[in-house]
Amino acid sequence: SAAEKGGHDYFMLKEIEEQPGALENTLRGHFHDGGIILDEQRLTEQDLRDIDKVFVVACGTAYHSGLLAKYAIEHWCRIPVEVELASEFRYRDPVLGRDTLVVAISQSGETADTLEAVRHARTQRARVLAICNTNGAQIPRESDAVLYTHAGPEIGVAATKTFVSQIAANYLVGLALAQARGTKYADEVAREFSALAAMPEAVRQTLGTVDQMRALGQKLADSKAVLFLGRHVGYPIALEGALKLKELAYMHAEGFAAGELKHGPIALIEDGLPVVVVMPSAKGRALLHSKMLSNIREIQARGARTIVIAEEGDETVRPFADELVEIPAVPTLLQPLVSTVPLQVLAAEIARARGYDVDKPRNLAKSVTVE
Ligand code: G6P
Repeated sequence: SAAEKGGHDYFMLKEIEEQPGALENTLRGHFHDGGIILDEQRLTEQDLRDIDKVFVVACGTAYHSGLLAKYAIEHWCRIPVEVELASEFRYRDPVLGRDTLVVAISQSGETADTLEAVRHARTQRARVLAICNTNGAQIPRESDAVLYTHAGPEIGVAATKTFVSQIAANYLVGLALAQARGTKYADEVAREFSALAAMPEAVRQTLGTVDQMRALGQKLADSKAVLFLGRHVGYPIALEGALKLKELAYMHAEGFAAGELKHGPIALIEDGLPVVVVMPSAKGRALLHSKMLSNIREIQARGARTIVIAEEGDETVRPFADELVEIPAVPTLLQPLVSTVPLQVLAAEIARARGYDVDKPRNLAKSVTVE
């Protein structure tokens, strides 16, 4: 009913608006006495200190959150991190041992491929840490440590609030590891945590883009395809933006690393093709920002209709943006938490304009428990 949807036309929009609260719930209780704490912890401090390799495994949107874990964990912990689709990981012969940590991310905790990846890791004696939204689900039950995202139940098949919660949870895991390994002092962990704690408010501000994105969605409904470009932490967000559009609007969509533009994607650019670009911060990442500006200039010169997600106050992009979408300025690693929001709304609204049921996209299930 409309009441259940909180007065919204569809659950997904309600869940998009619940993201600040979901993030608060993910962070709550996970920082105590100056340190990060997990919900279940059957590993010793020594086990954590000995970890010398991390694999992150997941499917779908959870996999996109996992791609972001790599940026944070490598930066904070100085441990090599590989991120892999669970369905690929389990069927090759990954090199695992007692000092390998496998981080399994799953909203439902029941995804068949992710569960089998966990089982494979355990038979190889690797340690397994689960990030999960569902208490007592199979994946956390078979793991050595668990961090619950506590985002609340998600009705929309396309993950939204659980995605931002997974990103935050990945960062908490990164900080927990950094703390155990001593690559970050307690005061640094506390500082990173307080930056995370400011994100619910930043996401709340980002909801100010909802009306703009809904209007834009209506305008783009007849497009044949939409491309998404990102760099650094904007790249997984480009992939996620494209996945959402495929899932909901049944439209051809692809995300690319902007640096790859000249290696193929630029050939796809034609007159009027919408291209969504996630801009890095001009202050935080000046070099990446300037590279991205030249990417936008190139695609615009070839006729693309540019939709640019940029930090508020970034005037340098304005001349190259057919549509400028402003998001709050936040630390680089945390930008995905805000930049993903307008892309969720865009996908939902294009789908609605095309007459589709946003909450129940065709052929898709909330949780894929058979392969
Ligand atoms: C399905 C859902 C996606 C989800 C993926 C992984 O494809 O439609 O929204 O991202 O499964 O699910 P999990 O429960 O493991 O996070």
